[in-house]
Amino acid sequence: MSTDNLFNSVDSIEFYVGSAKQWAYFHEKAMGFRIIGYSGPETGVRDRISYLMQQGEVKLIFTGFLSRESEISRHVELHGDGVKDIAIDVDNLDDTLSFIRENGVVKPGEIKKLKGEGGTFVRSELNTYGETVHSLRDYGEWDSDLLPGFREIESQERNLGVKKIDHVVGNVEVNKMDPWIDYYVKGLGFTHFLTFDDKDISTKYSSLKSKVVEYGGRKIVFPINEPALGLKKSQIQEYLDYYETPGVQHIALKTDNIIETVRKLKSNGIHFLDTPGTYYDELEDRVGKIDEDIEVLRELNILVDRDHDGYLLQIFTQPIGDRPTFFYEVIQRKGATSFGKGNFKALFESIEKEQEKRGNL
Ligand code: FE2
Repeated sequence: MSTDNLFNSVDSIEFYVGSAKQWAYFHEKAMGFRIIGYSGPETGVRDRISYLMQQGEVKLIFTGFLSRESEISRHVELHGDGVKDIAIDVDNLDDTLSFIRENGVVKPGEIKKLKGEGGTFVRSELNTYGETVHSLRDYGEWDSDLLPGFREIESQERNLGVKKIDHVVGNVEVNKMDPWIDYYVKGLGFTHFLTFDDKDISTKYSSLKSKVVEYGGRKIVFPINEPALGLKKSQIQEYLDYYETPGVQHIALKTDNIIETVRKLKSNGIHFLDTPGTYYDELEDRVGKIDEDIEVLRELNILVDRDHDGYLLQIFTQPIGDRPTFFYEVIQRKGATSFGKGNFKALFESIEKEQEKRGNL
């Protein structure tokens, strides 16, 4: 069986949160997403409230609970607000599942057939790190942007230029990165294309290791981090302590104009990590000539890095919820197809400063 068309792309990402309405409001007013669907008691779903939101091709679902018996309530009490499902769109669920079963590394859940106004669609679930899952969705006979149980909602277009999900990063425990890389490579047919070891990504105090897998020519990119020993606590360990299990650290949102997107996000009140001014003094020596005005990048704290194909611009938000766990990245690629080492260090020094403020370094 051909293994290059088993998965298409990240279909949507579902969060379990304390208040779906507040998360939806925040993503609408500050992050530029449009609410396109709602699901709850009014649509026949008794135990939860969900908002489906979209910007460009990025779809996010925020799901809250209506009673403390709910599985969502338990999840939120343990982990705080966080990602539950990184859903992946597949062309033919039967083919994908037989490939996964033949490999024998990952055990898929049973196939569920869902019916709604849009027709029928089938899904199955894979458990990945922590309590995170990948639901595999085959939209074969489904003819709607909405999922079963959702009804359409009219809301204003507030697009800030976000086009796609570039990558989704998971944090796992010490010595667990390699087994999870095997899960994706040996279990699901992904390709491992990049490794950063603790020599690449260490600051004075803490370090981490990271490996990156991709599928379908970078249509899906999943980096996995684990803590590494340093003088002080690794920021990946701080994440694990607060989330109480492995989970999604950040989602990178891709834009074609990072300066404009970040300006709008900032004017909407989104807080980003600071970058030391010295970073920009050495920038041109490190990455060479770039199209953007370095003073504008300095003003906005946007980072630049290079790989052998080109360069990329990126910036990281402060944590989105109460616990210092999940955050967003905004990224623009100008030729670069992978990641550079330089920004890792700048990012981790910035996160460390925040970690120190929390008394956890
Ligand atoms: Fe990232």
